[in-house]
Amino acid sequence: MRDDSYGRRRTPGPALDQHWTFHRQGTHLMANANQTPSQNPTTRPRISFLGCGYLGATYAICFAELGYEVVGYDVDTAKIESFASGTVPFHEPGLPELLKKNLESGRLRFTTDVQAVADFADVHFICVGTPQRKGEHGADLSYIEAAVVDLAKHLTRKVLIVGKSTVPVGTASWVQELLDRHAPEGLGVEVGWSPEFLQESNAMHDVLRPNRIVYASQSAWASQLLKDVHRGILELAAVEDREVPVVETDLATAELVKVAANAFLATKISFINAMADLSEAAGADVADLAKAIGYDQRIGNKFLRAGIGFGGGCLPKDIRALSARAGELGVGESFRFLDEVDGINTRRRTHTVRAVANLVGRPPGPNGPDLSGVRVAYLGATFKPDTDDIRDSPALDIARRLRAARADVVVYDPEGLENAQAAAPELSFVKTLAEAVAGADVVCAMVPWEEFRILDPEALGRQVAERRLLDGMNAYDPEQWRKHGWTYQGIGR
Ligand code: UGA
Repeated sequence: MRDDSYGRRRTPGPALDQHWTFHRQGTHLMANANQTPSQNPTTRPRISFLGCGYLGATYAICFAELGYEVVGYDVDTAKIESFASGTVPFHEPGLPELLKKNLESGRLRFTTDVQAVADFADVHFICVGTPQRKGEHGADLSYIEAAVVDLAKHLTRKVLIVGKSTVPVGTASWVQELLDRHAPEGLGVEVGWSPEFLQESNAMHDVLRPNRIVYASQSAWASQLLKDVHRGILELAAVEDREVPVVETDLATAELVKVAANAFLATKISFINAMADLSEAAGADVADLAKAIGYDQRIGNKFLRAGIGFGGGCLPKDIRALSARAGELGVGESFRFLDEVDGINTRRRTHTVRAVANLVGRPPGPNGPDLSGVRVAYLGATFKPDTDDIRDSPALDIARRLRAARADVVVYDPEGLENAQAAAPELSFVKTLAEAVAGADVVCAMVPWEEFRILDPEALGRQVAERRLLDGMNAYDPEQWRKHGWTYQGIGR
């Protein structure tokens, strides 16, 4: 029954196809021959992505775009139905169009049926969430365990299971043990690891055109499969005359690469925010300072924007999990600095509340500021622009703190209103920028959405009650705003 290099059965057969939530609409694997230069089925493994959040869904859609036959799996029926009917249930630029295109191509399907997934794919990518454990700093691996054990029980042939979720080092070996225990005996299912580096709001680009590919395996068989799985990305790069470096390494290193990268990025941001505090105390300008040090290529100019601190579903929890794991492995002391990276970051929030209070002439007392009667036009609620994600959003947290200090906080965000309103019902939300700023005593520009970055100081000045600006994004030219009668306060300048 095994007719190709992946040991698949000759035809999936009706018993499999009837499982799909979305039935194939065509038999052509290549909808657009320009997308990927070659399509050799013997070197194109079939792929599943377990978990259809930001990560798994984006990967599933992009790998279908690269010419692979793909299935996205999740236990959340509503999510799967949404994708299968062509709707991306979160905001990610460009993804809805790519979803529709690839559903139509027949290469992309979504299902909640784990047996169908087990039968279909040669390579299964684990893309489920690894949130922070409640009341602890370590990562909660229960979703990984559930996904792996469930899949293992339904496997009928040797496949490769590749971790993509961000995990504490040592997880891959544990996943292999789970498979050895729960997969039918004798299949020889193997674990590999291939971390992802996608940034929300740039996710499609990061998958299709990554700045590097990292993977690890335990055998020549698995190594070849991982090559086959990434061939589409390399072929696309070749067509576009780009190179994508590939780092093949061991499992533990592959796991660590991801957390090391996120910890480094977080450290860079906290470093510049510490410099922002010093700049403020010394009368310097941290934005100019960042520009000046960033010209040194050893330092680089990315991730040096001082502001209200980093948030999101990754950086904050990943540095905590790394520090916790280092402690478990007996090298916690070397990672104490990460606790301070975290501390500098969370202190941005109290710092920013104090800055707003000072700006409106209500400096904080021993119990914080009293901002009653102050109308705050609050621009931005998401953890960064071009997403509707509000997980651990510094902007939303600061808005809530201002509200707790009795300010009248009127929030506008281009895409995040619905999520923000559900999480912080005590705030007022409006659907336009004009409504937010009308009659405001202070404008807090917190998330650098394009719509906010292009604000005109004179036009805006005519709509507010008082020309006071807290530039939490350090995106404006202070002189320009002061010229138009604004009291300008940035971060560290
Ligand atoms: C981050 C990493 O950048 C990705 O490489 C990684 O794959 C991803 O986590 C993940 O682990 O899955 P993401 O969470 O989408 O991506 O967001 P970033 O673009 O890294 O921004 C994180 C936070 O840092 C945001 O709150 C942003 O506003 C803040 N930031 C970023 C700054 O405060 N200053 C900067 O200079 C840059």
